[in-house]
Amino acid sequence: MIYDFSFQNPTRIHFGKTALTHLADELKEYGTQVLLVYGKSSIKKNGLYDQITATLAAAGKTVCELPGINSNPRYSQVLQGCELVRRHHVDLILAVGGGSVIDCAKGISAGAYVEGDLWERYYQNQEPLSNPVVPVGAILTMAGTGSEMNSGSVITNEDLQLKIGRVFPLAEMSPKFAILNPELTYTVPRYQMVSGIFDTLSHLMEQYFSGDDDNTSDYLLEGVMKSLVHSALIAVEKPDDYEARSNLMWCATMGLNKILGLSKTQDWMVHQIEHQLGAYTDCAHGAGLAIITPSYFRYIYRDGLSKFVRFARMVWNVDDQGQGDEQIALEGISRLEQFIRELGLPQSLCEVGATVEMLPLIAKSTDQNYKARFGTSFGGYKLVEEKEIMAILNACLW
Ligand code: NZQ
Ligand code: ZN
Repeated sequence: MIYDFSFQNPTRIHFGKTALTHLADELKEYGTQVLLVYGKSSIKKNGLYDQITATLAAAGKTVCELPGINSNPRYSQVLQGCELVRRHHVDLILAVGGGSVIDCAKGISAGAYVEGDLWERYYQNQEPLSNPVVPVGAILTMAGTGSEMNSGSVITNEDLQLKIGRVFPLAEMSPKFAILNPELTYTVPRYQMVSGIFDTLSHLMEQYFSGDDDNTSDYLLEGVMKSLVHSALIAVEKPDDYEARSNLMWCATMGLNKILGLSKTQDWMVHQIEHQLGAYTDCAHGAGLAIITPSYFRYIYRDGLSKFVRFARMVWNVDDQGQGDEQIALEGISRLEQFIRELGLPQSLCEVGATVEMLPLIAKSTDQNYKARFGTSFGGYKLVEEKEIMAILNACLW
C-alpha cells in the first residue's frame, strides 16, 4: 500500500543535447556574484570550462572559483568554499562535475552562514538546518549519485577519518536547476563510468530490499534496474552510444531524487559501510559498493527471502523451474555478481587498498556512525552491528 506522504522536489531539470543553452536563462534569476566549483582537470580538458565561463561573462556575472574538488570531497574544501562565499557575498554556487563537486557545493551552501561548527552541527550531530543557505545550480558531467536532484551531501573529514552523508531538506538544498547533457559523460574514464552505474544500481537496491507489502515503488524500482542493466552493457562496449548514456543518466537521477523510495522503508546499510571504506581507502564510491553488496546480500537474504526471489525473477530473469526459493534467491545474487564482472568492477576489498588491519576500524566506525544517527533501528531485513559488519567485510577481503 501507499502510506501517507508529502513530497516536492524543487529542482528544474534541463535534459538533453541542448541542455546547456538553458544556463543563460537560469542565471537571470540570481545576483551578480557566482562561485564556480569544479573538479581536478576534466572540464578544462574537454572545453566545458570555456563554454560556461563565456556564458557567465555574457550574463554579466562576477566569478570566483573553487577548483580541484577531490573525488570523495574533503571537509577542508567545503570550508574554503564557505570563506569565498562570505568574502564575495556570493549569490549562486554553480557546481560543474559529478557527485563530489555537487555535494561539496551543498556543504558550502549550508556552511557559509552557519553559527558554530559546521561539521559538528550538520554532519556529526545531524542538527536541523537553521541558517540561510546559498542557492546551488548544477551542471552534471558524470552520472551515478543523483546529487543533481537531491539534497544529500557526503563529505570526508580527513582529520577524523570519517565520511558522513547529510540529507538536508529537499526544498532548501536540492539544486535549483540541473543541466544534464548525456554527451558530457562521454569523456568519463571507464572505471568511473562503471562505478557510477553501480552506485545507481545500489541506490535502487537499497530502496528495494526493505518492506514487503504490495507497493508501486517496488515495480518502479524493478523497471529502472532493468533499464540500467540493459544500457550499462551497451555503454561499456560503446561509450558514445547516446541512447545508452542518456538512459544511464536519467536512471541515475531517478534513482535518488526520492520519488522511487516514497512510502517505503529503506535499508542503506551497504552505503554506511562503503562510506567508511572510502574514509580509509579513498576508493571510488560505486566500486566500493560493488565489492560489499554481494557479501552483504549473502548475509541477509534468508531474512528477506521472498524479495530476493522476486529480484532474481524480475530483474535477472532467473528461470526457476524446479528450484526452491533459496536456490532462486542465490541465483539472483550470482547474476548480480556476473554483472559486476562484466562491468569490470573490483570484487575484493584488497583491490581497492583495504588491509586486514583496516577492517576492524571500518567496522567499528561504521557501527558508531550508524548508531549516532539512527540508534538501533534499521530499515533493512536484519540488524547489522559491528560484529556482523566485520563478517561481511572479511567475506570480501580477498
Ligand atoms: O575531478 P575531475 O577532473 O573533474 O574528474 C572527475 C573525477 O576524477 C571525473 N569526471 C567527472 N566527469 C567527467 C570526469 N572525467 C572526464 N569527463 C567527465 N565528463 O570522474 C571522477 C569522479 O567524479 P566524482 O564526482 O567523484 O564521482 P561521483 O559522481 O561518483 O561522486 C562520488 C561522490 O558522491 C557521493 C559519494 O560518496 C562520493 O563522495 N555520493 C553522493 C550522494 C548524494 N549526494 O546523494 C549519494 C551517493 O550514494 C554517494 O554517497
Ligand atoms: Zn551511492
